[in-house]
Amino acid sequence: MKLKAGIIGLGGFSKIILKSLERSRIVEVVAAADIRQEMRLEADETFNISNIYDRAEDIFSDSSIQIVIIATPPFLHAQLGKKAMEAGKHVFFEKPGSITLEQMQELKQLSQKKGVVATVDFVMRRNPLYLILKNLFTTQVFGLPERVFLENYAHDDTLPADHWFWDPDKSGGIWVEHGVHFIDLVQWLIGQPSTVQAIKINRDRYNLIDRVAGTAVHNSTLVSYYHGFTKPEVFEKTNFYAVFERAYVQLNGWIPIEMEIDALMTSDMGKYLTDDLLKEARRYLCSIDTVLEMRQLKKFGE
Ligand SMILES: NC(=O)c1ccc[n+]([C@@H]2O[C@H](COP(=O)([O-])OP(=O)(O)OC[C@H]3O[C@@H](n4cnc5c(N)ncnc54)[C@H](O)[C@@H]3O)[C@@H](O)[C@H]2O)c1
Repeated sequence: MKLKAGIIGLGGFSKIILKSLERSRIVEVVAAADIRQEMRLEADETFNISNIYDRAEDIFSDSSIQIVIIATPPFLHAQLGKKAMEAGKHVFFEKPGSITLEQMQELKQLSQKKGVVATVDFVMRRNPLYLILKNLFTTQVFGLPERVFLENYAHDDTLPADHWFWDPDKSGGIWVEHGVHFIDLVQWLIGQPSTVQAIKINRDRYNLIDRVAGTAVHNSTLVSYYHGFTKPEVFEKTNFYAVFERAYVQLNGWIPIEMEIDALMTSDMGKYLTDDLLKEARRYLCSIDTVLEMRQLKKFGE
């Protein structure tokens, strides 16, 4: 029998969650809640959900529900998550888990106290190409990581000036609402930073921050991030780079589907690339396509 879930918040991202869970053999969504009637009606027409409520409380009080999925704006995550755990439910938080560190710590303690599982939807960790990149960090096959950087030119087509996204009290700001994906990714790849610096830039003539940049040092790896909400959707661009002692690695796309590794190889490394790494990659991406190009190093005197 499948685990029964209830989702709170039926806005833009809930559709992605609901669509992907339609194919799940483990979880079925049996209930949903949204304070807006048009969202409830739309979900009712699109998905097969038995009960759609106007109050999250109806999900907490339904004893048949084991998992609560929280997909509301971020400032509500902590309070809804707390109530769900108090009712003995496991919680799947849309990112960010909450908008302050104190709230996150409180949620973590509560999940331990109540013996429920609570997790945050950090999608990057499940991307096959980032799993391959993780392998390069773990094996250090191309040496130590020297530098990591992210360039993220995001769109604001669906973000009018009064959208909750621009209000740091509701979203947590760009770092917490959006950058958290890559902060989590980098910490998963190389651990916690020892120093962090960041700056923000206001949009001309508007009281809203649309660009942030930051630098962090993790062990001896220098990491920098840039997020700008300045582009139309068709012109978005995201690139994530990792530079090792003997390799440049580039992943292209918000959800990357392309990875380029330019590396200094020794003759015994061919087996690692063609057997170990690609074999692992095919576990996640059975139709992965690879192109290998070799360049010989010139030696002095030749
Ligand atoms: N994992 C990802 O890649 C990813 C991508 C996009 C968004 N998100 C996250 O998903 C969450 C939702 O984002 P969105 O873009 O769908 O927002 P949205 O504004 O489109 O939808 C939020 C919905 O929550 C409803 N809501 C508000 N208060 C409520 C309450 N008290 N009870 C029930 N429903 C309530 C609103 O009516 C709205 O329909 C955010 O935390 C966002 O960061 C995650």
